[in-house]
Amino acid sequence: MSFKIKNNVYWVGKTDWELRKFHGNEYSTHRGSTYNSYLIREEKNVLIDTVWMPFSKEFVKNLSKEIDLEKIDYVIANHAEIDHSGSLPELMERIPETPIYCTANGVKSLKGHYHKDWNFKVVKTGDTLDLGNGKQLIFVEMRMLHWPDSMACYLTGDNILFSNDAFGQHYASEYMYNDLVNQDELFTECMKYYANILTPFSALVDKKIKEVLALNIPIDIIATSHGVIWRDNPTQIVEKYLTWANDYQENQITILYDTMWDGTKRMAEAITKGIREIDKKVNVKLYHIAKTDKNDLITEIFKSRIILVGSPTIGGGILSGVAEILEMIKGMRFKNKKAASFGCYGWSGESIKVIKEHLEKSGFSVINDGIRALWNPDDESLEKCVEFGKEIAKTI
Ligand code: FEO
Repeated sequence: MSFKIKNNVYWVGKTDWELRKFHGNEYSTHRGSTYNSYLIREEKNVLIDTVWMPFSKEFVKNLSKEIDLEKIDYVIANHAEIDHSGSLPELMERIPETPIYCTANGVKSLKGHYHKDWNFKVVKTGDTLDLGNGKQLIFVEMRMLHWPDSMACYLTGDNILFSNDAFGQHYASEYMYNDLVNQDELFTECMKYYANILTPFSALVDKKIKEVLALNIPIDIIATSHGVIWRDNPTQIVEKYLTWANDYQENQITILYDTMWDGTKRMAEAITKGIREIDKKVNVKLYHIAKTDKNDLITEIFKSRIILVGSPTIGGGILSGVAEILEMIKGMRFKNKKAASFGCYGWSGESIKVIKEHLEKSGFSVINDGIRALWNPDDESLEKCVEFGKEIAKTI
């Protein structure tokens, strides 16, 4: 399948409805994804990015129905991660001399993946490539958005920004345009993508977007490398990114816990009661860590002002599911969020201290030393949890 986006620009990618896990098992894709590749046919023919390796034969076969592969003058590799570069080996077997334009880090990364000495042409921000018919591609390095090699390019005349991962979503749709899909689904996937992939680089996102906006270039279309293409008010997603990149918060407290015999769960519910007694406006959400998708949890944390993390003590530590989410949280480098810990115990009771230390190392402002309850909490212990919840609510 291919379709025209505008004038001589075509989508030649792959829609992957079956995808449920991405980055190995690190990212859940409840709604599948797309790998967007684009073909520009001016006096010069340009291919921008390819698709993930499992689809490489299908991709090259379909592409060869669109264009004689020998007539592709330039290949642009905006990003070397294999969901975009994975079909290069199959393609370059057919056109080994065709130049591949990428950043200096792109060369390192592509060589690291495929161990091939293709005809690389290194570009940096501001470099241009003439396509004839008065049109040019302008390259913009997008270092650390989200890899060191990441790059975008802008097609003059048609005013299309090929943004690669930025502004994308893991969202399969046959509609393929932002104005045609369900808006709740779209923005849910956009936020999940930002929260899980771009949060650690928020300062760079803010800086890069402002740098691009300062150029005052017209942007009619943002053609990302995943999900739908932004053609209706395309800069709406740019504005969202600016909001999300600046310590985004909703009026939300998220309580994350794991539990063995429901003691820590009952603590979570009592803490919730205390919060609600003080503040009925704050949105308190409870999640059993082991029963919830970890990327959805990260999105909820992204939205929160405060998180409370609970685990019973086991083996002098915490439950493995809690350890996993704490490790993920550390990598996210969240800013301007508060946190505290809780958990029940039978013998030694280290869990709240272990969690507190993780939260401090992850940059959270830890409110207090946490609360623990011996065995399965009795009424008195639960009342203390209610008071703990009130104390938490007062810190908002
Ligand atoms: Fe869609 Fe960073 O790859």
